[in-house]
Amino acid sequence: MTLDLSTVDPERIPTHVGLILDGNGRWANQRGLPRTAGHLAGEEALFDTVEGALEIGVSWLTAFTFSTENWERDEEEVEFLMWFNEDLLTRRRDELHTQGVRMRFAGDMSDPRIPDRNRKHMAEAEELTAGNDRLQLVFAFNYGARREIAEAAAGIAREAAEGRLEPDVVDEDMVRRHLYIPEMPDLDLVIRSSGEMRLSNFLLWHAAYAELYFPGILWPDFDRHALLDAVAEYQTRDRRFGSAADFPSG
Ligand code: IPE
Ligand code: MG
Repeated sequence: MTLDLSTVDPERIPTHVGLILDGNGRWANQRGLPRTAGHLAGEEALFDTVEGALEIGVSWLTAFTFSTENWERDEEEVEFLMWFNEDLLTRRRDELHTQGVRMRFAGDMSDPRIPDRNRKHMAEAEELTAGNDRLQLVFAFNYGARREIAEAAAGIAREAAEGRLEPDVVDEDMVRRHLYIPEMPDLDLVIRSSGEMRLSNFLLWHAAYAELYFPGILWPDFDRHALLDAVAEYQTRDRRFGSAADFPSG
């Protein structure tokens, strides 16, 4: 399926789009199905959205697939999500590779609760696709922005303690270089499905000036057309990065 791109300005495509996948459980509940059925249905939504990103020309797409808080869910659901994340990587990686997608992961990978199989398959997918540059697809997995920033602070403190840098030289760029993916650009647009209007600890550093978009649909109903709508809405926003609004004079 191909999108009608005439509704968007090719000069103002967001470079980095963040996706907070939300509403899988509710989608399943509405159908009398177990929550896991909602996650299964969410896969198609995610990969259709990836195809949309490729068509539209988005360069970075980061999907929040498992948060540092998701461990609190029922053991069964956590186990399912671990299995599903891993299974999806192995099933999808060749197709993504062929499309020129570079797969990357952002999160606390040192967490002993992450099964070794997941770690292995993430490393393999990363390695296989390392040479691609059409789209950077980042899976925020066991991700929490506060932890990411705390880890960056710890890394900088370590270098200072070892005498490798003076505390006075620490600036925003240095913090950024210590985040999980140093070259990750700021988010231009964050989309959270299901009508919830929160960032929930997602890429807080990168979202500083992001435009936020909250479609009411549940994640399994999201697709490339919904992404295009989001980009069209983004293009109507007046991004000022802290400068004053421009009013016509006279
Ligand atoms: C998002 O859907 C799935 C994950 C990020 C794991 P939810 O599982 O949060 O669905 P709701 O909010 O319960 O409907
Ligand atoms: Mg939710």
